[in-house]
Amino acid sequence: MPAVARRPPGPPLRFLIGNFPLFSPDPLAVFTRWAREFGDVFYYRAGWIEVYFLNHPSLIESVLVSQSQNFAKDKVIQNSRWFLGEGLLTSEGSGWLRERRLCQPAFHRERMASYGHTMAAYTEDMLATWQDAEVRDIHQEMMQLTMRIVAKVLFGVEVKEDTERVAAALNVLMRHTSGGRMILPPILRHLPVPALMRVKRAVRELDEMVNRIIQQRRVSGEDTGDLLSMLMAARDEDGSGMTDRQLRDEILTFLLAGHETTAVSLSWTWYLLSEHPEVGGKLREEFSQVLGGRTPQLEDLPRLPYTDKVVKESMRLYPPAWSLARTTVKEMELAGYPLPVGSNVVMSPWIMHRDPRFFEQPERFNPDRWTTDAAQRLPKFAYFPFGGGPRLCIGASFAMMEANLLLAAIAQRFQLRLVPGHPVAALPSITLRPRHGMRMSLSRNITKSPIESNQRKD
Ligand code: HEM
Repeated sequence: MPAVARRPPGPPLRFLIGNFPLFSPDPLAVFTRWAREFGDVFYYRAGWIEVYFLNHPSLIESVLVSQSQNFAKDKVIQNSRWFLGEGLLTSEGSGWLRERRLCQPAFHRERMASYGHTMAAYTEDMLATWQDAEVRDIHQEMMQLTMRIVAKVLFGVEVKEDTERVAAALNVLMRHTSGGRMILPPILRHLPVPALMRVKRAVRELDEMVNRIIQQRRVSGEDTGDLLSMLMAARDEDGSGMTDRQLRDEILTFLLAGHETTAVSLSWTWYLLSEHPEVGGKLREEFSQVLGGRTPQLEDLPRLPYTDKVVKESMRLYPPAWSLARTTVKEMELAGYPLPVGSNVVMSPWIMHRDPRFFEQPERFNPDRWTTDAAQRLPKFAYFPFGGGPRLCIGASFAMMEANLLLAAIAQRFQLRLVPGHPVAALPSITLRPRHGMRMSLSRNITKSPIESNQRKD
């Protein structure tokens, strides 16, 4: 008798259409409910798209690491090729491997050390514009700061004048790739509807900036050893270099992947600190012992362990990449279920990071959990904000260093409080943005001025 294909448990499927959790007002709540109800793996179908949702570290390890050769990036990433092109995030196979090797040196320890100075200097630059008792959208501030940083350290350009336009373009793109729109068939993007025209305009806006970066470097002909120089110096076996289109895809990928996620992570950190003033107090104690008002530099980070725990804990509760997904390229079996070619597999840091099997009182913001025995015993993929396996985030160390430095530099000088009544909700798009931004009031801490403290006695 032929084996009967079995499917994991899951929500009842509505005739023909199935389920559309991404179209619900709160997709994260729906996925969490299903995960708690159906266990390590559940199945649902959104129209013609079949989804296997994995909720156990060992299954996630299988997909990202031990059986990663059976998977390609998922439909959302494939769909985003129309604006991201074929950069490191979206490419596959031998082309991806070549790009990864090419870009890796930009993230080596020695190079990263030089990035720390720019991170600290640009943060000071931003802080110089902040006034006591002002209200600002902190999410926009974080986006602009991290964008300036990544453009400067990887591509040697100052984009201060462009940040607002790029942020506006990104807002359009992120809204377009949020909720159910993530899975709409690519053909629909050719419809002449106003929303799509806005998306096309946004892409043109980004293209303009990226092309300017390429042209500036072509004209200067400089080799500064940054990522742009590495990309421009790369040669194929036949001796040909990257085309402008290839360069554009890679630069855009790094500009977007290299600032949005870190900014999102910091925005949620400010929110959590505003809700938990006692954590802010402990942070300031650490700063006064280690920094004493001085601008933090890379060398200070090993002596700021509490700051690091705050960043880790914030990424647990609000992982900027809230879901990772893959499509099977080979028929296979997973958790005892047969997966045909083309099956979609989803793994969510949001769900795993709040799983009570692995985290005690999972909803509680408790940075100290990271120094408990339980944290030492965590299975590898119970916490995976940067993914894992061959497609592990290439910027993971960059992002941790940046989040720690920026948090220390800013929280040492200001306390940020959410404006009463400002709505806070997560927008599950490619990243987990605060849907309504993050309006916060600033109050300056009374510390020695950095100039005073930087005058060290030798
Ligand atoms: C808190 C900040 C960040 C988070 C949470 C994050 C998260 C991730 C995750 C989860 C992936 C893997 C996606 C998958 O497997 O499908 C990824 C890939 C990637 N990230 Fe990050 N990222 C962050 C910061 C950065 C930074 C700062 C850069 C660059 C400067 C960067 C560049 C990339 C690139 C290029 C990839 C694709 C790598 C590949 O496929 O080889 N990311 N990121």
